[in-house]
Amino acid sequence: MTTKILPPRLGSYNVAEEWMEGETFNWERVHPVFTWYESGKVNMSYECVDRHVDEGKGDKIALHYFSENEEETYTYEELQREVNRWSNVLKDHGVTKGDFVFVFLPKHPHCHIAMLAAIKIGAVVGPLFEAFMEEAVKDRINDCEGEFLITNSKFLDRVNRPEIPSLKTVFTTDLEASGSDISITKEAKEADDQAETVWVDLDDGLNIHYTSGSTGKPKGIIHAHRNMIQQYQTGRWVLDLKEDDVYWCTAHPGWVTGTVYGVFAPLLNGVTTVIHGSRFSADSWYQVLEQAQVSVWYSAPTAFRMLMANGDKTLEKYDLSSLRHVLSVGEPLNPEVIYWGEKALDLRIHDTWWMTETGAQLVANLPTRTIKPGSMGRPIPGIEVTVLDEEGDELPAGETGHLAIKSSWPSLMKEVWKNEEKFKSYFPYGEKWYIAGDLAYLDEEGYVFFQGRSDDMINSSGERIGPFEVESKLIEHEAVKEVGVIGKPDPVRGEIVKAFIALNEGYEESAELLEEIRLFVRSGLAAHAAPKEIEVVDELPKTQISGKVLRRELKKRDKAG
Ligand code: PRX
Repeated sequence: MTTKILPPRLGSYNVAEEWMEGETFNWERVHPVFTWYESGKVNMSYECVDRHVDEGKGDKIALHYFSENEEETYTYEELQREVNRWSNVLKDHGVTKGDFVFVFLPKHPHCHIAMLAAIKIGAVVGPLFEAFMEEAVKDRINDCEGEFLITNSKFLDRVNRPEIPSLKTVFTTDLEASGSDISITKEAKEADDQAETVWVDLDDGLNIHYTSGSTGKPKGIIHAHRNMIQQYQTGRWVLDLKEDDVYWCTAHPGWVTGTVYGVFAPLLNGVTTVIHGSRFSADSWYQVLEQAQVSVWYSAPTAFRMLMANGDKTLEKYDLSSLRHVLSVGEPLNPEVIYWGEKALDLRIHDTWWMTETGAQLVANLPTRTIKPGSMGRPIPGIEVTVLDEEGDELPAGETGHLAIKSSWPSLMKEVWKNEEKFKSYFPYGEKWYIAGDLAYLDEEGYVFFQGRSDDMINSSGERIGPFEVESKLIEHEAVKEVGVIGKPDPVRGEIVKAFIALNEGYEESAELLEEIRLFVRSGLAAHAAPKEIEVVDELPKTQISGKVLRRELKKRDKAG
């Protein structure tokens, strides 16, 4: 296919009015937007909610929730009162500044409220993905010895309390709680709707997200309140959020996109956020776009590919004329999808690139720039990007190497929880360059072309999966002797999880056994981590010295086979 470039479309974009292409940009320019610029005191929850009420925008719709049979809205003032009540309940039960509060809830206003309430009193919030199963939940809370959890009775089945000894208090969003658990919704009804904001420092902890690499269990990436500088500004310039926008980010807050661009960035910008509770179907998604009159939409390539595969017939039933700006993140956005967007939505789909560790977008197609399909765009204002070779020297345009970002920027992670060494590993060539772990090349104009990962991390439907975590679960199955897990290219999901296993003596390969093993991972970890394919082999390729399974070799064999 020949790629054709897509010039910017006419429109009045925030970035065009506030910045000129080529002009240097200093993040300090953003500081006066925030209350802390004068007070020196900061709190993300305050800037997301209270500030708008204080500025007279309390009547504006902050959250618009849909599910199959429910619809609910909260104005900024209603949201403020609810956040205050919940934060009072949390405080009454001992949550204080710096405590970890895990939030394990579906896509629902309660999830937003829980996060904002915990942040309001200075706690560090740990949103957990709604599809996590027992082991994934346990590993994450145990790693930082979390004492507090906000969840619901349905999700509680996946919280193995005896194995999470640090867990002191469980709040549930059901009106009746069992045993020593606390119904946060019931107590909130009685609680004061005024609450003190706990003011913290810009560098104090805000949220923790566990993220996978190629080795070891997921690591806790901790971000700070200062992130708001970049999250607000990218919301304004990359998402082009304006006061009257209705904005929908399809990610769950358990993934970093769902927290940063599903909760923080839209609220910081004072727009209406759509929350959709149901599972993906082309009809239900188009319906949300139509019914909520979504104007700015942030989703992922797999979702666009699924809509594309669903055909025009479904699309034609809906009026999507409210849409004006569409963005994508998390995995390579193939040119076909961009061309589909042009035809089906009559809009350009703007790719954006960033990572859990980077805290906000770094490379993007700004609405005012030409899109080159196949490229993720160029560094946003205030960000410098290059490509380095194995020695850490810069490579010329066209040559593939390690994608590197000049440090630092406002939303760079604060730390990797209890793992200084891991934090340092992002800077193998010294403090100047943050190494993403992605391979890429730049063209003459500085457009970044993603070429894959430099490690074994798997990206399935934009979800980051560590092979080690899947392998650790697989090996627990009694039939499994040895295992190696890789990402296998897939036309819809980008990659799927594929496991190679050797069986213990006494076990024979059968469809039933493989299905049992797959379900073992699915019910232990999460559906997205369960191998879609399992291949039984006699032996796995290993390094001679340490006997480590060679995933690279498995990948090669898989391709050849
Ligand atoms: O490999 C890159 C891929 O997703 C990784 C980061 O994953 P995660 O921390 O889960 O964050 C995802 C969303 C912020 C990156 O190292 N990735 C992210 N965006 C893109 C991408 N790959 C290709 N194109 C993108 N736009």
